[in-house]
Amino acid sequence: MSTFSFAGLYARTAAAPKGIGWGKRGRYDFAVAYPDPTSLPIAGLLEGLRQAMEEEGGDLSLYAHPQGYTPLREFVAAKLERDRAINVTADDIILGDGSSQPIHMIAETLLDPRDVVLTEDFVYSGTLNTLRRFRADLRGVATDEEGMIPTAIEDAIRQAIAESKPPKLIYTVPTFQNPQGWTMSLERRQALVALSQQYDVPILEDDCYVDLRFEGKDVPSIYSLDGSGRVLYVASFSKIIAPGMRIGYLTGPRAFLERALGAKSGGSVSTFGSWAVHRFSTSHLYSHIEEINDIQKQRRDAILAALDEYFPASATRWSRPQGGLFIWLQLPEGADTVAARDRILDEYDVGYHPGPQFAPDGVAGRNCLRLCFGYNAPEEIAEGIQRLAAGFRAEGLIE
Ligand SMILES: Cc1ncc(COP(=O)(O)O)c(C=O)c1O
Repeated sequence: MSTFSFAGLYARTAAAPKGIGWGKRGRYDFAVAYPDPTSLPIAGLLEGLRQAMEEEGGDLSLYAHPQGYTPLREFVAAKLERDRAINVTADDIILGDGSSQPIHMIAETLLDPRDVVLTEDFVYSGTLNTLRRFRADLRGVATDEEGMIPTAIEDAIRQAIAESKPPKLIYTVPTFQNPQGWTMSLERRQALVALSQQYDVPILEDDCYVDLRFEGKDVPSIYSLDGSGRVLYVASFSKIIAPGMRIGYLTGPRAFLERALGAKSGGSVSTFGSWAVHRFSTSHLYSHIEEINDIQKQRRDAILAALDEYFPASATRWSRPQGGLFIWLQLPEGADTVAARDRILDEYDVGYHPGPQFAPDGVAGRNCLRLCFGYNAPEEIAEGIQRLAAGFRAEGLIE
């Protein structure tokens, strides 16, 4: 019998193919946003899970509440009130498979093909790919070290309106932005909210790095500055406990949440994982966050010192984040980080993500790259940056 092929059967809207398996990783891995593997709270999670299994293990035989394990939603609501001045109840929270799934639910709930979504000039590639799945017309807005520039946002809104395509959504990662590392200032947040209200364009605030502050003062959430129901808010336990837990959450106006819940696939979020996160969080989350921020600060210091030492300050620029995991490195115009990437990985064992991966048009930023400083120890970071500079010199990207 001949072998069957699906080739002629794919839906018109099927996703583009994705390679099966992992790509190669560098020993000096500045590519992926991993937290420090040695500081994962394994004992605390295990203990939390044991307690929960003893107390309510029988509930594993049930399908959980569609919005997710209620005590964890209560914890999230209390955390949002305490940390972000977001006053919601457990009923206003939907737990998701990371924050990626809530972002997917929002896209599915709001977007028709060709709907305009405004976002930062370089922003998290996972969300860009999700928005592309829904055929959004993605438009990047210019940023500086304080976030999106209000006149550029307004120009982009007006341009879209002039094309009879008023934007459906503004997506932003306002705190320790992925990939650029900056945090949007209070004034910029206020200006963004004012524009959102003036032009009736809702905002998706993706706050998954906000707890990873090791310097400076917190800036209020965009959600708390609005008060008119135009802001959807997502965050996650991925960066403060572990990405492998796959637990994140969404809040927003109740009527929107009801529509979004209808777009949630896969039933509820794992009760098993929720137990571990809930029990661990109620007793240890804040002390754990302090612990990981101490570690990340050392790594941030190490990468900044290494960049100062090995990269030419006259021709290259980089961000100096007060938290989070990322530095955005800009090489001279014409330098091609895309072409150099595989050779740098093979010959220097250093991984990074080139700029176009974060560009709404998928093209801009070939002279830029994202460096994640979460994974390697400080000494390795210094060595990795030295190697990266040597590689870029050998490739002719820097002098
Ligand atoms: C800005 C941003 N949003 C969302 C996510 C998704 O993370 P998760 O689904 O693990 O919560 C990431 C992951 O790196 C991210 O950087």
